Amino acid sequence: MDDLILLHPPSTPNVDLSADTGSIEWDYSAKLVRQVMKRAVKHYLRFSDDYTITSLPKPLVGRQYMLYLHIPFCITLCPYCSFHRFRFHEETAVNYFKLLRREMRMAADLGYRFTSVCFGGGTTTIIPKELAKTIDLAKELFGADEVSVETDPNHIDPENLEHTVGRVNRLSVGIQTFNDTYLERIGRRLKFGSGDEQYAKVEEILKLFPVVNVDMMFNFPGQTPNELAEDIATVRKLNPRQVTCYPLMYAPFAGHTFGRKFGKAGYDSEAAHYRLITQMMGSPYVQRTSWAFAHSTGTNIDEYVVDHEEYVGLGSGAFSFLNGTLYANSFSLKQYGDRVSAGMTSATKSVTFGQYAIHQYRMMVEMFGLRGCPSHKPFMEYNALRLLGAVEGKGRNAVITPKGRFLLSVMLKCFYNGMDYIRESMRRGLTTADERIIRMQALSAE
Ligand SMILES: C[S@@+](CC[C@H](N)C(=O)[O-])C[C@H]1O[C@@H](n2cnc3c(N)ncnc32)[C@H](O)[C@@H]1O
Ligand code: SF4
Repeated sequence: MDDLILLHPPSTPNVDLSADTGSIEWDYSAKLVRQVMKRAVKHYLRFSDDYTITSLPKPLVGRQYMLYLHIPFCITLCPYCSFHRFRFHEETAVNYFKLLRREMRMAADLGYRFTSVCFGGGTTTIIPKELAKTIDLAKELFGADEVSVETDPNHIDPENLEHTVGRVNRLSVGIQTFNDTYLERIGRRLKFGSGDEQYAKVEEILKLFPVVNVDMMFNFPGQTPNELAEDIATVRKLNPRQVTCYPLMYAPFAGHTFGRKFGKAGYDSEAAHYRLITQMMGSPYVQRTSWAFAHSTGTNIDEYVVDHEEYVGLGSGAFSFLNGTLYANSFSLKQYGDRVSAGMTSATKSVTFGQYAIHQYRMMVEMFGLRGCPSHKPFMEYNALRLLGAVEGKGRNAVITPKGRFLLSVMLKCFYNGMDYIRESMRRGLTTADERIIRMQALSAE
């Protein structure tokens, strides 16, 4: 595999993975990890309806929280995507932003302060003016000085830049692949343009934000190592400050439909593809989580929950993790509107975890953030990972091995898959009435 370390990748990499026998051994361990994780996720992620929650709990003194704000609208819907989103309807979206700001004021009244705010979607930049107002309010209410926003290549336009440059510290652009065949298959070629066109758009904005992150995906059905290597070489040539590489995830329902159309990406190629990425993403990048790479020098802003034990999620379909309880906000826009305009939290479901489960979760998240010695080390789980070769060294000197990075990627993917299952079950039964917020009570704060 050493010959795969491409510090200065050629424009057309030629990768021979036949000598890469190491990935077979990684695959075996991954199988075991998947089995254990699937059971754990099924066991733990059992939400109950709780329409009696009127407010999130107050913050604890001295604890740091992160704020996540969800914008659930897209112009068209990508077939593989399991995030909570609706087809864009302008009046609904404008009203939604108003309600979101109302919900932010409720969190501020409870006493929450955040230094770090992350807007996720959906398409957060779908109404630039509304997004800008919401960012400004986050700064005013919470003293937030780190704002991260997700967008797509279509929203890199003068109107958006006018409202985000100077406001946003980290702009994350979803590209997924520069390969036109795969862009076509995942429904993004027509929507966002060819790989070359998307490259040119991102290139234009690299210097406009302190941090630009590019999201890539790998392990598409049929993707060859050479095709992946070309994608990675291209993103390296583009050279954004951060790159995040997600293994393609199949949500239970969306994934099934996508898989039927294009075939399932096998688990057996995942380790080999992962190894290829980590080998290629050398200097000037350093790996910061199992999925994220960043320039080793200069500003770095991560959106990850690695450093924040607890977070508040506002907006329809967002999750909060507070005092050992995971809350899910209503996925119905109608119900979201009714609850928030009545001054209530939009959370309608929750599940509470015991100390042991919280330690397991923290261990997973911190090890995903490449900490070999996480703040909690449940004996059985930590030592099982050690036996699998995920950790080397003792105590504070312990480090996550290359294989460990992959196993943590598999673990997080299983966890996300469980969350996708929750998302899909919460969306089941929604009707067209749940997709609209047309009339709403006047919001005094606006
Ligand atoms: C919620 S999306 C928002 C970004 C933006 N709407 C876009 O599509 O460009 C954030 C990122 O999640 C990743 N993602 C979404 N669905 C995925 C899936 N099924 N498997 C792996 N990654 C996925 C993509 O890399 C995407 O850029
Ligand atoms: S991938 Fe992005 S643009 Fe596509 S549906 Fe999901 S959130 Fe919307």
